[in-house]
Order: sequence, then C-alpha cells, then structure tokens
Amino acid sequence: MKTRKCGIVLVGVFVATFAYCGASVAREPIQAASPNGVCKVTFSLDDQGRPTYAFDFKDKCVIERSRMGFDLKGRGEKGLKDGFAVAGTDTSSFNETWKPVWGEESEIRDRHNELLVKLEQKETGRFMNIRFRVFDDGLGFRYEFPQQRKLGCFTIAEERTDFRLPCDATAWWIPEDYYTQEYNYIKSRLSEIPELFKKHGAMNYRKVGDKRNFPKEPGVQTAVQLKYGGGLYVNIHEASCIDYSTMHLRLDGQGFQSRLTPDAINDKGRLVTPCTSPWRTVIVGEKGADILASRITLNLNEPCKIADTSWIKPMKYVGVWWEIITGRSAMSYTSDFSAVKLGVTDYSKAKPHGRHGATTEHVMKYIDFAAAHKMGGVLVEGWNIGWEDWFCKKKDYVFDFVTPYPDFDLPKLRDYAKSKGVELVMNHETAGSTRNYERHLEKAYQFMVDNNYHRVKAGYVGEIQPVGELHYSQPMNNHYLYCITKAADYKIMVYAHEATRPTGICRTWPNWIGNESARGTEYESFGVNNPSHTTILPFTRLVGGPMDYTPGIFEPHVKGEKWLSTTLAGQLALYVTLYSPMPMAADLVENYEPHLDAFKFIEDVACDWDKSIYVEAEPGEVVTVVRKAKGSNDWFAGSKTNEGPHETKLACDFLDAGRTYQADIYADAPDAVLRTPTSANYVITHQTVTKDSVLNLRSAPGGGWAIAFKAK
Ligand code: NOJ
Ligand code: CA
Repeated sequence: MKTRKCGIVLVGVFVATFAYCGASVAREPIQAASPNGVCKVTFSLDDQGRPTYAFDFKDKCVIERSRMGFDLKGRGEKGLKDGFAVAGTDTSSFNETWKPVWGEESEIRDRHNELLVKLEQKETGRFMNIRFRVFDDGLGFRYEFPQQRKLGCFTIAEERTDFRLPCDATAWWIPEDYYTQEYNYIKSRLSEIPELFKKHGAMNYRKVGDKRNFPKEPGVQTAVQLKYGGGLYVNIHEASCIDYSTMHLRLDGQGFQSRLTPDAINDKGRLVTPCTSPWRTVIVGEKGADILASRITLNLNEPCKIADTSWIKPMKYVGVWWEIITGRSAMSYTSDFSAVKLGVTDYSKAKPHGRHGATTEHVMKYIDFAAAHKMGGVLVEGWNIGWEDWFCKKKDYVFDFVTPYPDFDLPKLRDYAKSKGVELVMNHETAGSTRNYERHLEKAYQFMVDNNYHRVKAGYVGEIQPVGELHYSQPMNNHYLYCITKAADYKIMVYAHEATRPTGICRTWPNWIGNESARGTEYESFGVNNPSHTTILPFTRLVGGPMDYTPGIFEPHVKGEKWLSTTLAGQLALYVTLYSPMPMAADLVENYEPHLDAFKFIEDVACDWDKSIYVEAEPGEVVTVVRKAKGSNDWFAGSKTNEGPHETKLACDFLDAGRTYQADIYADAPDAVLRTPTSANYVITHQTVTKDSVLNLRSAPGGGWAIAFKAK
C-alpha cells in the first residue's frame, strides 16, 4: 500500500514566519516528528540566516543544533551557508511496503513524515531546499538544488553539515582515508580519536605514500557507530550517494563535520542544477538490534530501475581465491616477463612458472566440488593475461578482460560448468585503472554473456588511474555506478572490491549484489583481523548494503605464525550474521573435504530471507541473528562473539506455531582454543525443537555457533 499525502500536517509541525522581501524568515523553529512521534527534527535559521537542524529521540538529544550548508569554489563566492530566508515549507507523510529483489526480509516498510524547507539566499538570488524524512528509527535529510537562473554548474569546496553530539560518545570507527576502508575498527571515546588517528590512520600513507590519500586533521569513515552515555545507539552514514563524493566525518571537538572526498584537483563535487546531495542519515535506537533492523538506508534510495529482475539471483560460490591470497598458488602464469605489454607480449612462448592457480584442471576440481555440494558458482581469479606486473605500477593498459592465459581453456570450462549446472564467476581486477576498464567494459560484458558468465567480481587495487583520482571521489562513484548500469543492460550482477562503501543503491540497482569495501577475510591471510571485527561490521559497513566478506575458512593455520581470528564454528555463524546474497565458501576444496559434515551447514544455509530477527547485538561483543529462508519454512540462526566466550539462551519462539523442526546445531567443541589447531574443533548435534524450546548455546573465545532449523 502506497500513500504519499501531501500537505498533511505533521505531528508537531510549527511554522512561524515573518515577511522578508518576498520570502520569510523562520524566527521560530520548524519541527517535524516521526509517525509514532519518538523522533523529532527541528529546523531553524540562526541570526545570520544559517540553516540549522537538531534531532531528538524520545526527548533525548541525539544531534544538538548543527549547521548546514556549503562552501562553493570561486573567487568572491559566498557559498550556500548563510543569508537564507525560508521561502516556504511543505509537509507530507508516507507509508509504503515494498519488496526488495533480495535481502534480509521480503517486505520492507517505509513509513515516515517529510518536511521540505525551501530556502532563498536573498543576496545571490539562489534557492536551496532541505528535505527531511523522519522515521521512527531515525532521520534522513538532503540538500536539493532546483533549476534556477543564478545557480547552474557549481563546484563544492566543502559540504558544511555538522553533527554536533551531546556527549563524549563511545565510537566504533575507522580512520578517514580516501584510498582504503580495509581497517580493523577502533573503539574509543570521541575525544580519544584525534590521538588514536595519528597512530592508526593513514595505513596507506605508509603503503602507498601519496599524502592526498588521507586528511591532515583527524576524521572517520561512515558508517560510524556511536553509543551515548544513557545507552542510546546512534549511527551516522549516508544513503543514495549518486553523482557525489563519499562523505567522511571530521572531528571538531563537539562531534563531526562533513568532509567530502576530494577529486584529483581537490574539488569536492561538481554539480549541475537540478540536483540533490545524498541523504545524510542518523539511525537511532535503545538497543543495538534497533540499528541492525533499521531499513532507513534502503528506504532513502529510489525504487528498482530494472524492469525485469528475474535474472538477478542470490547464490553461494566457491573459488580459486584463498590459495592465491595465502600464497599457495599465483594469479600470474610466468616469470619470463619483467613487464607485460598487452598485444605485444607473447604468452604462447612463455615458460609457465608452475604456480598458476587458474588452470583448466584445477578449476574443474572446483566445479566438481560446487556441483556436489550445492554451490552455484566458481570464481576464478588470475584467469586472464596481465597479472605479471599488475600491482601498483600505475599502468593504464593493465588488463583486457577477455584474453585467457594459455592454460585456462575457457570454452572447455564454460561447457563443463554448464553441464554440471554450475556458473563460472568472472573476475575483472582493474588495478584501479578505470579509464582502461571503461574502454573495455562493453566488450568485456559481451564476452561474459557469450561465455555464460552472469556475475563479475570487480576490483580496484592500487592508486586510481588517471593519476590523482581517489577511490571515493565523485568521478569514481560515477564510475562504479556506470559499471552497474551498463552491467544491467547485459543482465550481469556485479560486486566490487575496494570500491566505495555502499549507500543502499542496491535497492535501485539490485544487480549490485554486494561489495567488499571494508576489511574482509583477505586480511586473515596477514593474521591481523581482530576477533571482534565481524561483530562490528553489521553496525558499520553493512548499514549501507551487503558485503563480500568471503567467510568459510576451515583451516585455522593460515601460514607461518599466522592463525585465523575465529574458530571454525565462528566461520559458519558468519553466513547468518553477515548478510550477503552472494556469500563465498572461501576455503580450499582440500580443506573442506575432511569436514564435509560441517560444510553441510554452508550447503543448507539460505542467502535470501523472508524475515530477520536480531536477537543479540552489541558492537564489538556479540551478534546473534535468526532468519527465515525466503519461500521456505526453514529458519537459520548464527551467533558470533568477540575474543571472549559467550553464552546464549536462545528462545525458539520465532519458529512457526504447531510445527516441529530438526535443529542441526554446529557449535565450538569444549576444547576449541583460538589461534591453535583445536579452534577447528566443532560439535554437531541434532535436536527436535518447537517454538517452546530454549537452547543453551556456548561460543568459545573468537567463536560462535550456527543452527539450521529444518521444518519437519
Ligand atoms: C583484493 C581483493 O580484495 C581480493 O579479493 C582479490 O583477490 C585481490 N585484490 C586481487 O584482485
Ligand atoms: Ca580488498
């Protein structure tokens, strides 16, 4: 049911106006409340005509009165931050239930009240609107720039949205950085961030050396998760970041100020009216679970733009990947070349170095495993020429995306996979060379269609080419979305690594089936992930959309001194706690084969859901989720803990009344000890349960548990 009722007076909307040269000045605050009245936003202009907002939840201050607006680039440019008068307001309410193509639930309710404040800047004759949407679990607002005579093409020097916080909140954060999001999260007070930023920030300054990759003054990436003294959970992020640069949050002593990712010449955004900014979001709740259950990010995105979505399907996959990441095999084919010049370098005469992972025979083994164990696809990295010198060489023409290595018989594998009912998953590492990728994009997508590939993992390792562009700038965000929209023309699903963090655009383009855009399992190969990492991701990175976390590592000893940061049962839990419509079973076939009883959970677990319930949710401590598989009576549960142990009494009251279930329980063995061989010890038990059952479950430090509830 869809209702947008314009002109409906909102709960608590007060508009007091005074005549001001054709417009009016709001001397009194203008307030809008959420449908149930718990959330309230208050807009007002200060004595210099500067727009401000404040946000309350249950009469508690979430955001203190904070300024809004823009510095624009240009000599003598006044910007869009003061001298405003209110030219009018509009209010409306909205109540709709919509069905995502895939997701954590099959129906999503979007119920909010809206306040549109129309502003006129008298001195310049310019107009800017601010649209607020107030939900029962938070706030979204964005700037709108209508078509007008005095504002056409303009350049943002900085967005000036403040988020002044009422207390020295606890924050789960990663440092502002325009090159990478692949950090462990840090828990600290806001006031401690500046000092910690110096220590933990700029991971890639040390690595890449370009000072433009991170700011001088401390800041954090979004989504940042906060907890206030009184126990309020507050999450700040953005929604629908389209044709705009990704926002970071600079520490300003009283909270945050927006700081946009610069482009190659340090501009923050080039806009053409009519246009809008992304939504700035503040999700709020009294429990951690309220943050995870919020659908504000999706609701603030446009409805699906793909008419026929029947080809977009969730799927689990395995791949030739972890063996490469851990150094057991290589993406490259030969050691003969110090550099590769595509079109000139002759691979047919090259001597193979013998460590190439993507060989025909090896990939067939993965196809066989996928077919035997209900995995829909096989990702193959290193199948195409160019990997010999791909990394951080600032090369433009680094890959062509269509030419296989001599030992990768693509037609044979294509036909073999098809005969087994398995899809090959394409890999397009771009090495950050976006111009080269765009040049080849349509040919590469056509090549996929011709060879029965329907999904691609794209990658953006290294500094962006053309030189000077940064990973999360407006031109780069436009590039990522351009790939998605083009892929939709070819009925191709995309997930990108190293691309900017999602902002819910997967509602509009559901062929955007995930992204990495945070620290994933990859970093387990360096032995550096914190055990608590995956209990924080749902509160941060996943607020914008699903992640290609690539769980499912069964062999705890990674290499040398390096051990996995979770137990094996903890890895199973991630299939439920970290939502993805395309989860990988990332370990090697030979590591799964001795544990096929545990792998059975990965075989069984769904990746598209009717319903999700967040049973326990405390960032950095524990996340316990139960979900009902889409179109099925089966339920699945997962719980992941931090470096400490955890006990859960799971009341099964979510199960259907009058039905019995077989619960297959995968738990840490009593002797499982993290970062030792015993961390792979697990116990599988089977019980008959109903909605009246209560299960006592224990997670070892760094561990977790997973349950398949199969309806009898
Ligand atoms: C980094 C990605 O996160 C990883 O999954 C991939 O294998 C490598 N880049 C190479 O593309
Ligand atoms: Ca990565």
